[in-house]
Amino acid sequence: MTHDLDPIDQTAVTSTPDPNADPASTPADRSRPVGQASVADLAFEPRRQVRIGLIGAGGRQGGLMSSLAPVPGAEVVAVADPRTEAATELSGLIAHQGKPRPDTYAGADAVDRLLARDDIDLVLIATPWPTHTPLAVRAMRAGKHVGLEVPAAITIDECWELVDTSEQTQRHCVMLENCCYGRTELFALQLVRAGALGELLHAECSYTHDLRAMLINDQPWRRQMHIDHDRNLYPTHGLGPVASYFGINRGDRFTKIVSMGSPNIGLRQWRDANVPAGDPRRDEVYQCADINTSLIQTAAGRSIVLQHQVVGPRPYDRRNQVVGTNGIFTDYPPRIFLEHDPVLGGIYGGQGAIDAPEEDYRDIDEYLPAFEHPLWRQEGDRAVASGGHGGMDYLVLLRLIQTMRDGTVPDMDVYDAAAWSAPGPLSELSVSNGNAPVEFGDFTRGDWKRNRPGIP
Ligand SMILES: NC(=O)c1ccc[n+]([C@@H]2O[C@H](COP(=O)([O-])OP(=O)(O)OC[C@H]3O[C@@H](n4cnc5c(N)ncnc54)[C@H](O)[C@@H]3O)[C@@H](O)[C@H]2O)c1
Repeated sequence: MTHDLDPIDQTAVTSTPDPNADPASTPADRSRPVGQASVADLAFEPRRQVRIGLIGAGGRQGGLMSSLAPVPGAEVVAVADPRTEAATELSGLIAHQGKPRPDTYAGADAVDRLLARDDIDLVLIATPWPTHTPLAVRAMRAGKHVGLEVPAAITIDECWELVDTSEQTQRHCVMLENCCYGRTELFALQLVRAGALGELLHAECSYTHDLRAMLINDQPWRRQMHIDHDRNLYPTHGLGPVASYFGINRGDRFTKIVSMGSPNIGLRQWRDANVPAGDPRRDEVYQCADINTSLIQTAAGRSIVLQHQVVGPRPYDRRNQVVGTNGIFTDYPPRIFLEHDPVLGGIYGGQGAIDAPEEDYRDIDEYLPAFEHPLWRQEGDRAVASGGHGGMDYLVLLRLIQTMRDGTVPDMDVYDAAAWSAPGPLSELSVSNGNAPVEFGDFTRGDWKRNRPGIP
């Protein structure tokens, strides 16, 4: 079988209602239907208190609550999960934090009952991936703003459905991409904004987390994704921060992706070593590559390496690297190398270096006084004390609640949620077509050319 290297025309892909069968069933670009308007500049209505409903009462939502507790002006009024025990436990946890105990909805109609309330401003959704877009769409149609866990969508149709629903309802759908608020991610953003890296050329990012035990033992819905798909299943932790550096949807945009998978061995091996013969899991066939590597091009001609590896013995790592004409920042651990160095002085001149002989990375400590992000200067202690993922969970929630209370535009919007989630289905399309390039849609419908605010 041969594959030409022209980008795949997504209009040629047969449409099917089964999202597992066809990750990108629709044209890359769509014109805006009559009767809906961009939400790129949509400010929240200001309010003193943000009343929150929680959908999903699993591990993640519980974790988010310790980060939400110290956020001023946030009040959880209701919790919904089909599982009675989980919903009750989460309400109890919130009461245990000294907050009013939220109303608790369980059973098949739990979400309907929560969404029927007229005293909820914001819904936080932390549920299995295939339910993200359907739940977010229902919440926006019920008049609620949405904070949605990652990834926001698992098909290109869903990406467009989120965009169209946000535009029709004029409700925001903010993907809770906490990694955009990590300390070193925001440090790198400050470097970029100060021009310390020069003209931006390239970035690399990955989600590297050994999830074998969790996939086999704890989360059948997540394991099912490894049965149904061969793709980058979790692109947004790496891509969100890079999107901030490159001003994606704010002057630049992703245009094209090429993706490649490694053999898939590790999950089956781990299962066979740890699950007894006769267990139904022994019959499962996993098709997701142990390592998926994608290359993304942007409209400004920059390149991004995006990687997903959750099956295999390696330490947790979120490679986060940004390269410019004046140097490089790279993470885990964070380090930096600059030619013209605005902090330490000196010039490394490549061959025949003058004045700065060391051709080696430097620790970022010496650069923090100049480039620590204001959010970390002001909120760093509280963020770290609140716990969640080193403080970034607190900051993602703080900024969402702050912008809602102030009546300003959120740091991230539905166009970001769609663009950062799209590499999931698009990488699958590329892999299944012999690694051919696949076009990204322009979810902003042209608005990406404007340089509008994002993370402060
Ligand atoms: N941003 C992060 O750092 C981070 C970390 C962990 C998990 N997550 C994300 O959070 C989400 C939830 O993960 P988790 O570990 O809590 O999973 P989980 O399996 O522990 O919990 C999911 C919960 O959702 C409930 N649920 C399922 N379908 C539902 C529906 N239709 N309506 C309402 N509730 C429903 C389940 O009963 C369960 O209680 C996932 O998308 C995951 O990727 C993000």
